[in-house]
Amino acid sequence: MRNRMIAGNWKMNKTYTEGVQLAQDLAEALSDGTGNVDVVVCPPTVDLKGVSTVIDQQSAPFALGAQNVYWEESGAYTGETAPNMLEAVGATYCIIGHSERRDYFHETDEDVNKKAKTLMSHNIVPISCCGEPLEIREAGTHVAYVVDQIKKDTEGLEISDPAKYVVAYEPIWAIGTGKTATADDAQEVCGAIRATLAEIFGQETADGIRILYGGSAKPENVAGFLEKEDVDGALVGGASLKADSFSAMVKAAM
Ligand code: PGA
Repeated sequence: MRNRMIAGNWKMNKTYTEGVQLAQDLAEALSDGTGNVDVVVCPPTVDLKGVSTVIDQQSAPFALGAQNVYWEESGAYTGETAPNMLEAVGATYCIIGHSERRDYFHETDEDVNKKAKTLMSHNIVPISCCGEPLEIREAGTHVAYVVDQIKKDTEGLEISDPAKYVVAYEPIWAIGTGKTATADDAQEVCGAIRATLAEIFGQETADGIRILYGGSAKPENVAGFLEKEDVDGALVGGASLKADSFSAMVKAAM
């Protein structure tokens, strides 16, 4: 059985003080626990240590994730963050391949693949994003497009524990736009992702990998996505920036 997962991607929002406050509010809102739901928050890099401290001090029922990593271990890579630096502040998850990084920062599938390998060698769980732009959706080739991304992003990966690799399907046209995919749209692609993972890693491993939906997911619509067989949770942007909406989504998943 796969545990559901609700992950919050704060993107480039929340200063250090605001991030600590949000983490405290969330710890409070979830103080009764999260049942079988794995909850992850992914603040900006400079907020990681502060949020990590809140998690420790309040025994908060959520894990810490980063939004990006570099694949080298150390060295002359100005502005980048190495995996052991994430480890040192308590991050156990890291988003990779988000469409905003692919679009604005030219991250390729090859980069995403290298990042996944590096993270896994540090026992940090990748939340590896994929998803099609609007023109691909309109052309009706979205399933093939995403399957191709999955094949490239997972090339040469060894997944010994399927709980330690997470995929997030985020149709780009639904991110931050208020336009959500329907639950059936999400299932169509998430089902194809699982079938592809089964071809690559075997059915048993594929059955253990969490596949999240992302793109204008919110308290009002998350339950509909979670009813679908191959949708195991949500990667949440806008609605993760307030403790009440994010905790409501966690509760809807419980
Ligand atoms: P959104 O963002 O929930 O604000 O659409 C989701 C994401 O990009 O991860």
